[in-house]
Parts: sequence; structure tokens; C-alpha cells
Amino acid sequence: MPNSKIAGIGFYVPEKAVSNFDLMEHMDTNDEWIRERTGIVERRYGVKHEETSTTMGVEAAKIAIQRAGITNEDVDFIIFATLSPDYYFPGCGVLLQREMGMQGIGALDIRNQCSGFIYGLSIADQFVKSGMYKNILLVGAEFHSAGLDYTTRGRNVTVIFGDGAGAAVIQPTEEKDKGILTTHLHADGTYAEQLAYINPGCHGGKWLGKKGFGYGDEEQLGGMFITQHMVDNELLFPNMNGPAVFKFAVTKFPEVINEALETTGYTKEDIDMFIPHQANLRISQFVQKKLGLPDEKIWNNIQKYGNTTAASIPIALCEALEAGKVKDGDLVCLAAFGSGFTWGSALIRW
Ligand code: UT7
Repeated sequence: MPNSKIAGIGFYVPEKAVSNFDLMEHMDTNDEWIRERTGIVERRYGVKHEETSTTMGVEAAKIAIQRAGITNEDVDFIIFATLSPDYYFPGCGVLLQREMGMQGIGALDIRNQCSGFIYGLSIADQFVKSGMYKNILLVGAEFHSAGLDYTTRGRNVTVIFGDGAGAAVIQPTEEKDKGILTTHLHADGTYAEQLAYINPGCHGGKWLGKKGFGYGDEEQLGGMFITQHMVDNELLFPNMNGPAVFKFAVTKFPEVINEALETTGYTKEDIDMFIPHQANLRISQFVQKKLGLPDEKIWNNIQKYGNTTAASIPIALCEALEAGKVKDGDLVCLAAFGSGFTWGSALIRW
């Protein structure tokens, strides 16, 4: 059974940079708070009516396909990870397929938020190893800026997120001990509402009761996808219990990385490059310290792009490669944590 490898990778971020100072024009926040708590200096926002998660995914995919040395016709399966899809349904997978002229092949949409790329990588790895597909296009893309709350009420969420896309082509490799060595996926739905975009939805308040997450309560939300009550009460935004997410993240990141190391028999010292999901610079620094990694063995770019969720790992990995920080034979560790809660890791021998 051959291993699978990332044969080509690309990313796309919109041109428009939005600084912390720009956000201060809309909400009660400040540059110092955002930098201190998150490390973020600016993020990119897509052009409304022109760009979407799909269009950004297409741009990243074109680069990944070209770098893999294949053409669109060679792609035999698509996996698209996003929490900010163009439509509620169908998913972005078929839209990207249509835009890239790949009609006929399977297109799988996955909803694993910040862990989306690692979940997708694990799925692609299994499909390639089993011999089912030979050129899987894996895309993580987000158009967060279209769905954020730009009032002070939403400031803890809005300042963190940015738009962008990353894509990779996953192929079999005949090189022994190279490629994707192991992947590990986890979730705990106990915490589903701690970081969630609840409304609109078909839940009708079923899971909420009066838990006070700010999503509205059972009696008022009704059984409809979108209700007047949601509109009138401005309940159509993402919510996050930041401190709870932070607390879990700093525990689960090291745990799932150790799981990957133990499975493969490597140690922390063997890691040449660690690419964490760019959730918060403080989270990444905490994990870096826990692993005892020097600064040159971790790639952080949240300062420039904010948290781009499913896109953040492929964007960071691609940048690290382009900067010459990931070389042939390096042991690369990917890890993510986010809404769900979901978390995961992957070890790749480049
Ligand atoms: O990919 C996974 C996605 N999410 C994460 O990884 C997020 C993990 N959590 C975090 O990164 C942090 O919890 C945040 C950066 C979101 C927030 O930092 P924090 O230190 O946990 O702050 P907090 O939520 O406990 O809020 C502290 C104060 C509050 O004011 P009071 O109640 O002390 O007066 C907030 O209202 O900071 C206030 N605050 C803000 N102030 C200025 C919250 N957001 C902002 C803001 N600007 N943007």
C-alpha cells in the first residue's frame, strides 16, 4: 500500500487588508487589545459580490494543480472544507467543480471548521492509500467577512477572523517512509455551542434552552430555518465562548500531537516544522513552548491573515514552503483545534 503525499499546494488571499484600526471604526475595540490577546495585526477581506469561498478556493486550487504537475482533467476527487459556504446547500465542492470544468467526479463537502483541512487530509490519505483515487484536490476556503457581526456585540469573534483559501493535491508516492505518515481525528460535541453559528438553522431552539449563549431560547426560535424573531433580535451571527475554546485548545493541541508522535515512534525533537492552525498567536506560542520548539521550527502568519479556519493550515504550509523553511525529508507536523469541538493532527515526511 503506497503512502500518500502532498504533491502540490497553493493559496490565495484577497487583496484588501483590514487593520485593527479599520475595525475600530465599526466597534469598540483597539489595536493593543487585539495584538496582545491574539497577535493579529490585519486580516484580508474578500470583495463582496465578486469573491466567495468557492472563487478563492478555485484560485488556490489552480496553483496547487499546476505545482503538482497535473491538469484539471487528472483530478479524480474533490474535498472542500469550509464553514462559510456560498450556499446552505449544495456545498462549495460542486461549485468549484463546475468552475474548474471537472464535472463528473465526486465532490465531498466537509464541515469540521478549524480542523477541516486535517480532516480532509485524513480522508484523502485513506482514499489514496486504498487505491480508490490518484489525484485528490483538497480545498479549505473561508469568506468569513460576509457573515460577521461588525457591532461591539460581536467584537470577540469578528476581530479574529479573515478570508482566504488553501488547496493541495494529494497523490500516491512510491518513496518509502515519505508522505503522510499518520493522521488523528477527534471531536467532542458536548461543546458544540461554545463556538457556533446557530441561526439560521432548523433546530427550532431544540438544543439551546436558556443556556445564555446569546442564540435565543427554545420558545422563541420556532421550528423554521429563519424566523422574524431571529431577524428582529439580531440573532444571526456567530458566537464564541473565547476563554473556553482557549482552555481546551491548549490542552488538545499537545495531546493530539503527542498521539501522532507516539504512533510513529518520533519525538518532539524530531519535528522540523510545526504548522499549527492559526487560531490565536498566544495558543500557538503556548503549544510551541510545551513542545520545546525553537522559533525557526514553527510557522505563524496569523499576524497578517487572522484566523482563516479551514484555510489556515494550507496557507501557512504553503508560505513555509515558499520561504524555503520546509525541505525535502523534513518531518512536518500539522495540528488544529476548533469549533465542534474538533481537533486533529498529521505528521508528514516531506
Ligand atoms: O480556531 C478556533 C477559534 N477560536 C479560538 O481559538 C479562540 C480562543 N480564544 C481566544 O482567542 C480568546 O479567548 C479571545 C482572543 C477570543 C478573547 O480573549 P480573552 O482574553 O479570553 O478575553 P475575554 O473573552 O475573557 O474578554 C475579556 C474582556 C471582556 O471585557 P470585560 O468583561 O472584562 O469588561 C470582553 O468584553 O475583553 C473584552 N473584549 C474586547 N475588548 C476589546 C472582547 N473582545 C474584545 C475586543 N476588543 N475585540
